[in-house]
Amino acid sequence: EKITLSVIKADIGSLAGHHKVHPDTMLASTRVLAEAKKNGLLIDYYVTAVGDDLQLIMTHKKGVNNKEVHETAWNAFEEAAKVAKELGLYAAGQDLLSNSFSGNIRGMGPGVAEMEFNERPAEPVVVFMADKTEPGAFNLPLYKIFADPFNTAGLVIDPRMHNGFIFTVLDVYEGKALDLSTPNDLYDLLALIGTPSRYVIKYVHRKDGEIASTISSERLSLIAGKYIGKDDPVMIVRAQSGFPALGEILEPFSFPHLVEGWMRGSHAGPLMPVGIKDAKMTRFDGPPRVAALGFNIKNGNLVGPSDLFDDVAFDETRRQAQIIAEYMRRHGPFMPHRLGPEDMEYTTLPDVLKKLENKFRPFELGYKPIIKHELEEIK
Ligand code: 13P
Ligand code: 13P
Ligand code: MG
Ligand code: MG
Ligand code: MG
Ligand code: MG
Ligand code: MG
Repeated sequence: EKITLSVIKADIGSLAGHHKVHPDTMLASTRVLAEAKKNGLLIDYYVTAVGDDLQLIMTHKKGVNNKEVHETAWNAFEEAAKVAKELGLYAAGQDLLSNSFSGNIRGMGPGVAEMEFNERPAEPVVVFMADKTEPGAFNLPLYKIFADPFNTAGLVIDPRMHNGFIFTVLDVYEGKALDLSTPNDLYDLLALIGTPSRYVIKYVHRKDGEIASTISSERLSLIAGKYIGKDDPVMIVRAQSGFPALGEILEPFSFPHLVEGWMRGSHAGPLMPVGIKDAKMTRFDGPPRVAALGFNIKNGNLVGPSDLFDDVAFDETRRQAQIIAEYMRRHGPFMPHRLGPEDMEYTTLPDVLKKLENKFRPFELGYKPIIKHELEEIK
């Protein structure tokens, strides 16, 4: 029978700045999901948080994009946001961009990753959740997991994976998507996904049509038309038996690659894999972090989770991430630590530039700066 796994997340406010979800808001949303489980809409759920993002992990039989499931998630966020307002948490209701639910949670602020599949006798899945970055942050790890034999031995030695995978790449500015098949289209794929702020891997399928991975792709600034926070993506990956092994799925995260986000959504920094207990955003509101929970799904029930990056095997990666964070921070407001102008478009920087617009004047050799006290001296 077909089971749907829905991961829906939103920032509904945070304790002491954008750094950590308050437990009372998690409780408020848990109550809504418990009710939905009691009523039979959800089979199971798990509520967690990474940084200032509240994460609802839900299983059901309603398929993807289901109105009732999305409405339940929306209500859970609204209840949590109420508590956030009562507690005076920072940016309460931040990602809830609409006043009322209108049939589908997509485009309303929250991030959504959902997949429907026939549950295997053993159905291992990994839910990745990142804060202070954007959906394209998963491009590089997804490439390694599903297309790089130096990462994923199964591409070479498992006949069920040997034909490769199909990547669906979304152009988030145009709202268009295309499918690229690996290994044949490898270079075309890289030509696009190397621009992670624009081209985002949305789905990965096996060649027999089985869904392997799905990623949230919502871009808040493109919905709201201005900067109101980063998109802090989530991703689901199925593991084992014809999909990459758990260790092949986690392996790319041993490299703390540079992603966009961090302070004010305007800086490049290393993506640091952490356990849930360390998933709070402190240094310069970061560095950007990713947590991973491993579940087995049985008859739709969520067995687990295991907190996968809460492990000494990733200590060295975290140390490396700290060193990179230190190196990047020393650039202060200079590129390429601060993002380029295209990516700053949706921040408050354009307002500053506008103020300076009238101060520009023609330049010629012998140019003397106009400074107030200097002019007075000339008189
Ligand atoms: P499965 O093919 O049963 O998933 O096993 C792969 C494996 O041995 C993991 O390293
Ligand atoms: P969030 O999207 O996590 O709220 O980030 C806001 C921010 O600007 C942090 O500096
Ligand atoms: Mg926030
Ligand atoms: Mg966040
Ligand atoms: Mg960019
Ligand atoms: Mg955000
Ligand atoms: Mg074994």
